[in-house]
Amino acid sequence: MTPELLASLREVVGDAGLVTDPDQLAGYLTDWRGAYRGTASVVVRPSTAEEVAGVVTLCRDAGIALVPQGGNTGLCGGAVPDSSGQEVVLSLTRLRRIREVDPVNQTITVEAGVVLQQVQEAAAAVDRLFPLSLGAEASCTVGGNLSTNAGGTAVLRYGTMRDLTLGLEVVLPDGRVWNGLEKLRKDNTGYDLKHLFIGAEGTLGVVTAAVLKLYPALHGRATAWVALPSAQAAVDLLGVLRTLVGDRVTAFEAMSRQSVEVVLRHVAGARDPFASPHPWYALVELGDTLADAGLDGLLESALGEAFERELALDAVVASGSAQIAGLWSLREGISEAQNHEGPSLKHDVTVPVSSIAAFVAETDRALAAAVPGIRLVVYGHIGDGNLHYNLSKPVGADDEEFRVRADELARIVYDGTARFDGSISAEHGLGQSKREIVADYKDPVALQLMRGVKELLDPAGLMNPGKVLPS
Ligand code: FAD
Ligand code: MLT
Ligand code: ZN
Repeated sequence: MTPELLASLREVVGDAGLVTDPDQLAGYLTDWRGAYRGTASVVVRPSTAEEVAGVVTLCRDAGIALVPQGGNTGLCGGAVPDSSGQEVVLSLTRLRRIREVDPVNQTITVEAGVVLQQVQEAAAAVDRLFPLSLGAEASCTVGGNLSTNAGGTAVLRYGTMRDLTLGLEVVLPDGRVWNGLEKLRKDNTGYDLKHLFIGAEGTLGVVTAAVLKLYPALHGRATAWVALPSAQAAVDLLGVLRTLVGDRVTAFEAMSRQSVEVVLRHVAGARDPFASPHPWYALVELGDTLADAGLDGLLESALGEAFERELALDAVVASGSAQIAGLWSLREGISEAQNHEGPSLKHDVTVPVSSIAAFVAETDRALAAAVPGIRLVVYGHIGDGNLHYNLSKPVGADDEEFRVRADELARIVYDGTARFDGSISAEHGLGQSKREIVADYKDPVALQLMRGVKELLDPAGLMNPGKVLPS
């Protein structure tokens, strides 16, 4: 970067908005897992949408590419610059104002750098719920959630980030600010442009603020950990719950035994609720706006039905918040715990819920044949058909020997996904990691249309190049 451009950027964002010290830069240049590393000499940290527009305009004029970054918790390398040293990281974490909470309209208007947990807390303060919930919620940002169309554990009841968004403010690649911050649940005045930017992973513009939907707060909660004989039993148990308690099912997470084992090994204080191991588990949660909705009783009778139908092998209904937190940490701890087992080969896929059991059986078999002893850390948001088909090396195997087989093993998982009419990215996006391989699994006409949209909005290709679109 030229000294002139650096000085101009400083004029826009001030000293507090520029990072050039190599020690401070380091955290912006690698991802949460340490799977992707990039290089950059400058991170720019604007604090308003106007400053973002100023930075984008200066970089556009200089032909410098920008890599938007929020909490940097993404799992596909989308927020990490390339190795050229020419790209500038645009960190949005100083855009952290909650602009408005409107409990009557059930909306909240927040800037892109607000951390997800702060949105949840601001909603709770007015007796409302912002439902998006995921393991990284204490550090991921609204801008990142929008740009990845984040999912998490409440999608089966409330939908993804796309479903939770009413309006957006976006700085376009040419520096214009699009004010689409509407608080309306109905507006049929043409194309709904916000959907272009949601899930675009920073390739079409920079999200600076959003209007998000709120829901009535939940005051009743019941949580159970259930041992299951198979993935099919997990799907069937979800069906029983939906029939008996309807929309009160607010979470239904399923995990293979290997997933729980990594947590028991690496998370301090983690405890197996049962004396002996079981093939699969489900973490079930019911919620209701009423504190006295009798959810424990409803859950127990639904589980009774599951035992009768031999879907459940054992179950514990949590009593009190400490036990609930303990059960959730068995689930939320998987991602971090797996990092201690050598390379974690991640495959965030989705298939129709009705195909999950057959998909798991076929894919488990193919992976075990390819790498005897491979550990199948398979878990996820099964009510959305979304499995994290994550793989760890056999115990005692060499890290590098396992890592070099990543592409071959990904093909096994993705070919299976395709056979069951699924998608190779459910909620994490494409980023760098699936950018090329998506060309083999996505409809070619859809890819052509995506390229057309990119060309229209970012003809110079300066917004997060090398991400999402195949080269
Ligand atoms: P970043 O990682 O900083 O960026 C992600 C992408 O968005 C990048 O392409 C970046 O360029 C772009 N971007 C960021 N901010 C902007 C902006 N303002 N404008 C334009 N582009 C932008 N994800 C799920 O969906 N469900 C889960 O259950 C889940 N669980 C997780 C658990 C753990 C332990 C971890 C570490 C991650 C998990 N994730 C999950 C992934 C991650 O938290 C989400 O993708 C999250 O939405 C990323 O937010 P972020 O602010 O960290 O974004
Ligand atoms: C989760 O649901 O825990 C994450 O999305 C999965 C992952 O880290 O692979
Ligand atoms: Zn997930």
